[in-house]
Parts: sequence; structure tokens; C-alpha cells
Amino acid sequence: MKVPAAVLWERNSPWKVEEIELGEPGPGEVLVQLKASGICHSDDHGVTGDIPMPLPQVGGHEGAGVVLEVGEGVSRVRPGDHVVLSAIPACGNCRWCISGRANLCDLGRRAVAPAADEQVPARRLGGQTLSALCQLGTFASHAVVSELQAVRIDDDVPLDVAALIGCGVTTGVLGAIRVADVLPGDVVVVQGVGGIGINAVQGARIAGASTIVAVDPVERKRNWALEFGATHVAADMEEATALVADLTRGVMADKAILCVGVAHGEHLGPLVGIISKGGRVVVTSITPVTETAMTFSLFDFAMSNKELRGHVYGAANPVADFPRIIEMYRRGQLRLDELITTRYPLSEVNAGFADMHGGRNLRGLLEL
Ligand SMILES: NC(=O)c1ccc[n+]([C@@H]2O[C@H](COP(=O)([O-])OP(=O)(O)OC[C@H]3O[C@@H](n4cnc5c(N)ncnc54)[C@H](O)[C@@H]3O)[C@@H](O)[C@H]2O)c1
Ligand SMILES: [Zn+2]
Ligand SMILES: [Zn+2]
Repeated sequence: MKVPAAVLWERNSPWKVEEIELGEPGPGEVLVQLKASGICHSDDHGVTGDIPMPLPQVGGHEGAGVVLEVGEGVSRVRPGDHVVLSAIPACGNCRWCISGRANLCDLGRRAVAPAADEQVPARRLGGQTLSALCQLGTFASHAVVSELQAVRIDDDVPLDVAALIGCGVTTGVLGAIRVADVLPGDVVVVQGVGGIGINAVQGARIAGASTIVAVDPVERKRNWALEFGATHVAADMEEATALVADLTRGVMADKAILCVGVAHGEHLGPLVGIISKGGRVVVTSITPVTETAMTFSLFDFAMSNKELRGHVYGAANPVADFPRIIEMYRRGQLRLDELITTRYPLSEVNAGFADMHGGRNLRGLLEL
């Protein structure tokens, strides 16, 4: 079928909305009518090449919608089901899935680089195959996706907020709770208050942090952070370090979570410096794939028993965790409606990215 979709043809160029050809759902695949897609900074990493996605590419990996058709052998969902699309598949069979670490599912590598002989949903335009980050392509009216990435949710959950669960909410909230392992009474620093960082603030609040210091150069972001549960804010890490030293009488923070739009090695030093002995730094942000250097004192790091932890997708098990996230939303513990700053039609996708870069959105949302 032909559907409108935002396509990236060249690095550092605008998205173009065009009619693409979506294949029929093959074995294990489902056709989803998308209702909404969040605009996540990871899509922009595909634009800059930080994530070296092959081009041309259909954008979007944070979506929700309604299943229209299922391919052969599909058992997880049926037509009519409301689904959140999971950025990472959960095959249910690999050693990671069966040990409750589906965020590390072996099929996750398909998100960026499927093997040549591997079945992924077919998208074409003008005779060319289109790639899609996470094999989702949610900047479109419809998507064909693996059933391993379609997680059924209750029909009463608004599909706009549900879309955000597909990446930003899950990564931010569960990243704080599970990966940073925020404990009641902890002092937590969140650097970068975008769609991910604001949810790390919420996760830290839910986990019972006593003190949450949100760091962002944009004043509007700092004000939002205070509304979502931060207890203090700072414009940069220098200011945050002085603030945390003062608040903790020099003990420093238990956890620090890096959520800036683009991470670089130089971010590590101040983060390692702001945590206490035995503290933990969590790297959520994506770094350009070619960058490998970082500099901080390994002597202090070792002698202070500090930890540096990589983080992908909130250590989430989507089938188990999406309903838990929804329940926190229903009970008012997690604010999701307020995350959507601006809504755009698909034709305005570039305005959505411009607002993200301009610091004007917590999350921009495409209504599809
Ligand atoms: N690890 C994962 O599983 C995962 C999942 C989703 C997104 N990500 C990554 O998380 C990062 C954040 O994504 P997002 O969608 O929230 O981005 P965003 O653009 O919405 O927000 C980034 C925020 O960082 C702030 N910022 C920039 N430089 C800063 C600095 N030096 N100090 C403090 N704040 C700074 C910006 O003002 C902005 O508010 C991206 O790198 C994204 O690719 C990782
Ligand atoms: Zn994302
Ligand atoms: Zn698996």
C-alpha cells in the first residue's frame, strides 16, 4: 500500500514527506495504523550520522496505533488491538529475553543493522529500499513491524501518550529506577532535560530520591524539570557541582544520569566528579559512533569505588513493563500528557526537529 512518510535522503538535510510503498505484512509481521509518533533525539542522530543508518531512511521509532492486519503465524496481537511499538524487539527466546533483560535481546542489532539475509519489513520508494531506525518507521500514517515490537495495551489509554512509552518514557523512567538504581533518599543529578531527561527526573522522583538536581542550559527546561519533580536546577555542570557540594556538605551525589542530546567524552569528567564515593554515573545519551575517547581521573575513580554504567532502553521488558508504566500514569504518579509540548501534522516534521533543537519542546508529537 502507498502511505505518506517522512524520508531522509541525505545526511544533515531536511525530512521530505513522500508517498512510500509499504509491503504486505509478511510472516510474523503486522500492519499498524499509526496515531502518533514522538520526535526523539535518536532520530536526529540518524540525520547527523552519529548513528550511521543507511539512507534513504524512514524516520520515527516512538509510535502507537491500531493493528489493521496480521501476517502468517502472528500470535501476539490481533486486528483491532491497540499497540505501543517497542523500539527494541523482545524475541522471548534468547538468553537475554529469558533472563528478564529483553532490552538486550539479540534481535536488537536489527534496529540499526539487519543482516543481509534477514527479514525486515519492506519499505520502498522509487525502486529503492528504505531503512528505518529500530525497523519501525513511525513518521508515517502506517507501518509494518515485527510482532515482536508490537505490545498490546488497553484500549482506554490515549494513543498520543502511549506513543511516548515506545522510547522516551521507558528509557527515562526505568533508566532512573533500574539502571541508575535510584534508592529512597538518594541525591540524583540529571544532565539534559529533553524527552529522556524529564522522564529520568520523574523516575528518580518515583524511586524516592530526596534531592533531584536537573541540569540544562535552557531556562524553560529547568522550569519544566521543577514541575516534574526536580528539587533544584542548574544551568551547567559547574553550577551543579557547587550546588551538590553545598546541598550534601561535600558528600556529593549518589547517582548522575547523562541525558544530553549528543554525548561526548568530555561530558564524563564532570559527571564522575559530581558523584560521591561509591556513586554511579549512567550514560543514556548517544555519542557519535566514531568517537571513542574520554578523559577523567581513573585514579580517583578507582580509589573512590565509583561506577560507570551503560544504559539502553531502561533495562525494560516491554511486555511486562509497558502496563506498569501505564498504571503509574493512571494513578497520577507519572505525568505523560504534560510531556507533549507541541503537536504537528506529518507535513511539519521539520518544524518539530527545529523546536527540539531550539529547546522549545519536552517532546514534539506528530499526529498521524
Ligand atoms: N540509551 C537509550 O536507550 C536511549 C533511548 C532514547 C534516546 N537516547 C538518547 O538520549 C539522548 C537524549 O534524547 P532526548 O530525545 O531527550 O533529546 P532532547 O534533544 O529532547 O534533549 C536534550 C536536552 O539536553 C540539553 N543539553 C544539551 N547539552 C547540554 C549540556 N551540556 N548540559 C546539560 N544539558 C544539555 C538540551 O538543552 C536538551 O534540553 C539522545 O542522545 C538520544 O539519542 C538514548
Ligand atoms: Zn528514541
Ligand atoms: Zn530476545
